[in-house]
Amino acid sequence: MRILLITSSYNGLCQRTHIELVSRGYEVSITLAISAEVMEHSVELFHPDLIICPFLKERVPETIWQKHLCIIIHPGIKGDRGPSSLDWAITDNLTEWGVTALEAAEEMDAGDIWATATFKMRKAAKASIYRHEVTGTAIKVILEMLEKFISKSFTPEKLDVSKPDVKGTLRPLMKQPERKINWETDTVDIIMRKINAADSFPGVLDTIYGEEFYLFGVHKEECLRGWKPGEIIAKRHGAICRAAVDGAIWISHLKRKKIDQQSFLTRLTSLHKPDYKLPATLILGEAKLKDVPESPIDLLYMDKAETFKEIWYEENNQVGYLYFNFHNGAMSTEQCQRLRLAYSEAKKRATKVIVLMGGTDFWSNGVHLNMIEVAKKPADESWRNINAIDDAVLEIINTPNQLVISAVYGSAGAGGVIMTLAADKVFARAGVMMNPHYKTMGLYGSEYWTYLLPKRVGIGHAIELTDIPLPIGMQKAKAIGLIDDTLPEEWDDYLAELRQRAEGLANSADFAQQLQAKNELRKKDEAIKPLSAYRAAELKRMKMNFYPSFYGGDHTYHEARYNFVHKIRPKETAAYLAKHLQLNTANFHELRKPLNY
Ligand code: COA
Repeated sequence: MRILLITSSYNGLCQRTHIELVSRGYEVSITLAISAEVMEHSVELFHPDLIICPFLKERVPETIWQKHLCIIIHPGIKGDRGPSSLDWAITDNLTEWGVTALEAAEEMDAGDIWATATFKMRKAAKASIYRHEVTGTAIKVILEMLEKFISKSFTPEKLDVSKPDVKGTLRPLMKQPERKINWETDTVDIIMRKINAADSFPGVLDTIYGEEFYLFGVHKEECLRGWKPGEIIAKRHGAICRAAVDGAIWISHLKRKKIDQQSFLTRLTSLHKPDYKLPATLILGEAKLKDVPESPIDLLYMDKAETFKEIWYEENNQVGYLYFNFHNGAMSTEQCQRLRLAYSEAKKRATKVIVLMGGTDFWSNGVHLNMIEVAKKPADESWRNINAIDDAVLEIINTPNQLVISAVYGSAGAGGVIMTLAADKVFARAGVMMNPHYKTMGLYGSEYWTYLLPKRVGIGHAIELTDIPLPIGMQKAKAIGLIDDTLPEEWDDYLAELRQRAEGLANSADFAQQLQAKNELRKKDEAIKPLSAYRAAELKRMKMNFYPSFYGGDHTYHEARYNFVHKIRPKETAAYLAKHLQLNTANFHELRKPLNY
């Protein structure tokens, strides 16, 4: 059966849908919804039996949905319609929300219903709920819908808003006036909901020191207080702390309102200022924040008080859990250095096992491309950043007194995937997506990948994983040895099983032998080829990516990074996704074979 995915971008949900379908033997092709013509052309070429739109902001042309069954995955409960579903659900403080699979029809989101399911809402940013609850529920809904489709006996349900189980309604696009924070009256809870409902897009527009910015990354502050609501009362690791009527909150990131959206006068003064997401203090500048006190935090923060923290640590039964929750999993030079120091502190403690927990949404996505883009000399900053992440990876590899586990709950990309392999064991949540390739960013890659990756998966898979810019699901990751095992989807179950495994390892009868075996293997590996040699060879290639004019490389990396940071949409679907574009007589039969994922 041929399934065409029409999507606004190859985002996490589309990646997961792709992998789940291919692993079940379906032939899948993907097209970005670049225009009506592109969508129509892909349907003409692929002749799909079914079309699924896992993430679609555009309209599917009538010419398509009138001839083909076209299922829209809508992040809302039955009856919910409109483009701001999750935004309203968070703003309205709902305790339950859902995902519905419905047919594309004249009225958006009002087509016949094939499947629907609900989930418990979590107090978190919209993007985080999307990456976890929505994605997990969407996959269930897609699989249920597929079963019904295959049965050929299912009649989808017409949307009837008068039915008691249809609780959703038509909601308009949520605009900035509805999102606006009233610092004089809004409580911490309300401010957090407003910022969460707009995170990661479009952000809440607010005025700081007379300029307009979108706010992102809100965190509750339990101890600090200020007199004037809205006032910036502290700064820490790029974030700003602002007073509220009943407490305070941290905002980690700001995005300047785009220049073409601003008044003429502001446009003049804003020229050459970055208009993409960056740490708040960097956007506001040192001069404006010079009187704002720095609010230090322990390197290994072990307190329970709520505050803005990127790295924290817990310890239980001889196991140390090191969390590093960097916004979007991006790790700047300074963040890598801080992580390395925190890890080396964790190593000094009397534990037997260290668990690298990463962050909720992303374990790590490698070097911080936005921080590199904004640097005066991006090539130099790329060099500093890659060396800083390499240092952190090295610190993990060289852990002689503990066994180390990478516990991957959020997804991981590029160098972030490789970093997981620096541990002795890798466990991942079953629904995690890993993108181990550096290709789309035009990079050769470092983080000791030439040592760590073949060691785990062998040369053949190492080449496949780094050469083909496709995500890998955890079923295949386990089969090829990229990870050791999967963990449950739900956080509480995930944590319980992880703790059990980590403590089991710490208390295992052969712990000393396992540690000795690891140290001996490291010694042997080092004698064959030192880690410094792997690093030097990787960095030599990276120099060609960073300084193409000096070292004879091409400019792909700088261009790819610019496009990534500025969110420049690709003009066409990548050939490795758009199977239909390869559909010609010569390879038609090849394509029809089920893909082995
Ligand atoms: N640096 C800066 N920001 C990054 C980042 C990085 N390395 N990786 C991801 N992000 C940001 C994205 O810009 C996006 O920001 P926003 O949603 O706040 O606007 C957010 O993280 C989520 O990323 P997105 O690309 O939307 O997620 P995805 O699930 O569709 O794709 C990846 C995940 C990992 C495939 C993709 O983010 C990626 O290719 N990242 C770059 C990896 C890389 O090349 N790192 C450098 C080499 S080590």
